[in-house]
Amino acid sequence: MNILVLGSGGREHAFAWAINKSENCQKLYVAPGNAGTASIAENVNIGVSEFDKISRFITEKHIDLLVVGPEAPLVDGLRDYLEDKPEHSKLLIVGPGKVGAQLEGSKDFSKGFMQKHGIPTAASITFTKETLEEAKKYISGLPTPIVLKADGLAAGKGVLICESHEDAFKSISKMLEDEQFGAASKKVVIEEFLKGIELSVFVLTDGKDYVILPEAKDYKRIGENDSGPNTGGMGAVSPVDFAHKGFLDRVEKEVVQPTISGLQKDNIPYIGFIFIGLMNVDGAPYVIEYNVRMGDPETQVVFPRINSDVLDLLVKTAQKDLNNAHYDTISETATTVVMVSGGYPGSYDKGQRIYGLENNEPDTVVFHAGTKKVESDVVTSGGRVLNITGIAPDLASALGKSYKRVNLLCWEDVYFRRDIGQDLLALSRK
Ligand code: AMP
Ligand code: GLY
Repeated sequence: MNILVLGSGGREHAFAWAINKSENCQKLYVAPGNAGTASIAENVNIGVSEFDKISRFITEKHIDLLVVGPEAPLVDGLRDYLEDKPEHSKLLIVGPGKVGAQLEGSKDFSKGFMQKHGIPTAASITFTKETLEEAKKYISGLPTPIVLKADGLAAGKGVLICESHEDAFKSISKMLEDEQFGAASKKVVIEEFLKGIELSVFVLTDGKDYVILPEAKDYKRIGENDSGPNTGGMGAVSPVDFAHKGFLDRVEKEVVQPTISGLQKDNIPYIGFIFIGLMNVDGAPYVIEYNVRMGDPETQVVFPRINSDVLDLLVKTAQKDLNNAHYDTISETATTVVMVSGGYPGSYDKGQRIYGLENNEPDTVVFHAGTKKVESDVVTSGGRVLNITGIAPDLASALGKSYKRVNLLCWEDVYFRRDIGQDLLALSRK
């Protein structure tokens, strides 16, 4: 098969890495890709939002399967755009259409969907500029902290956790009146705060059948001990100890099954990933959010644990043939540590030369994110730069592998968290 992966992050390098292992992968392209994908596939200089160029490339190169990494092109209707063209009638696509992508593209839509289908989630109400006074009244009646969510895509920055009512009053005005997040905050979901431990569950579905992939935990804050601003993700671990079988069974029954049947009841065709952000509240699962793609950096620990042909799973999904699909996992733990440019998630330098990429370390994989090749050097080109995945029989040893390789890499102003997985190690000691 000829395959095109869209995106340029660590997630897309992990997709390319997994797909490339399949016997059925003939020619693999990544658009636009990074220096890591360039070493195992052919990078194509097309942006993920350039639908017209993507369509022409698919025709020219006889692409059989398109895998969409990030959410934005899905929310903007890439599948619908391609499906409208007769020349792509045989193209297989992993990624939902515009309506299904609203599960991530609109928090108001996804909360409505969960409420309608009885999927456990935090109580919430959506407000607009016109209902600002009601929003303030609702805030007054909620205990703190209070969660405010911009309705639309806001690059992971649209969720505010307000510690006081004062703070929530100020923030809701900024979001609705001053459109702090542009069009994304024309509507704001205000919801109750859930106290528990977070976990991500990944589902691959053809709209009728599904497989649940290995679960993962990610580390969203920039600072150690989960301090400072949110980022795209600073590290991840899979499996997650506290997600024992009993809990995962509840997730399947109370969340995954009603989600898939809800899509069917609402006549929303869905082919692709559903990444469910969950809170484990005293053993009960609550949905924090849906994403319509894989997680980044979660993919960098989930795919290394799949001991089956990932391309085969993707093709079965796109062909609506997931019935009876099965995959094996390795029993080992995978951990990834994200190395970022100093200053991220604020402003940071680009173009720093990365040293140490030639060093190897057994049972580790370096997934590139914001990197590019400039002559014979690899330089930084984004906030999140490298993901260092380690694989070992237990969490502590996997972390040992990740950090051993991290310590062989450097560039000016590099930063990474030193405490990835430490909370889980402490929990397991209790
Ligand atoms: P999201 O962008 O929806 O993933 O939200 C970002 C982060 O905010 C989540 O990963 C949670 O840590 C936190 N969060 C979102 N909603 C809630 C909630 N209702 N209660 C507690 N924490 C939340
Ligand atoms: N790591 C969180 C995400 O991909 O949204």
